[in-house]
Amino acid sequence: MPHAGEPVGPIPAGLDPEEYDRTRRRVLWSLPTGLYLLGSRAGERRNLMTLSLAVQLSTDPKLVGVAVESGAVTHSLVSDGGAFALSVLAREDRAIVRRFVKPAEWDGAALNGEAVHERATGCPVLDRAVAYLDCRLERAVDLGAHTLFVGEVLDAGFLRAEDTPVLRMEDTRMSYGG
Ligand SMILES: Cc1cc2nc3c(=O)[nH]c(=O)nc-3n(C[C@H](O)[C@H](O)[C@H](O)COP(=O)(O)O)c2cc1C
Repeated sequence: MPHAGEPVGPIPAGLDPEEYDRTRRRVLWSLPTGLYLLGSRAGERRNLMTLSLAVQLSTDPKLVGVAVESGAVTHSLVSDGGAFALSVLAREDRAIVRRFVKPAEWDGAALNGEAVHERATGCPVLDRAVAYLDCRLERAVDLGAHTLFVGEVLDAGFLRAEDTPVLRMEDTRMSYGG
């Protein structure tokens, strides 16, 4: 295992490892990404988590992948519950993502005070999301720091006008990964 802060993985010959590490991180940060809330549920345990690493992986079947930190509460809820729901956020709701970087409090109707509802899988979907993808877990691939959860879309729909601008990482001052 590399020590904390020590550059991870291959370093091209002749480059300063620290400098290359910083450059590689900025290149990885430059990949355009959306910003979502990932809903998960196992029994009565529910969570919503800020997530940027989401992508469609296949058109037939309709597969979506999300990469989740192996130590996250969401990781155990997706593993145990066998499902996840991706809420696509409105750009005007950018402030919401800072409130879902730790396990959320469930009060019987809302998570951290944000109203949610269930669709096909029972995972929480944000009421004020622009759209959602509700997915049944098809496979989990352990990739190290993150697990790639691959889900088949069981239900998808818009909750707000389809032309509502959706949130992207570039709309914030945040970054993730790298
Ligand atoms: C802008 C941003 C993007 C994030 N993207 C991801 C992500 O794609 N995957 C992930 O596991 N955690 C991501 N996180 C971290 C999680 O939101 C969270 O802090 C952590 O995974 C713990 O989640 P938990 O509530 O399920 O324990 C991101 C955080 C921020 C601020």
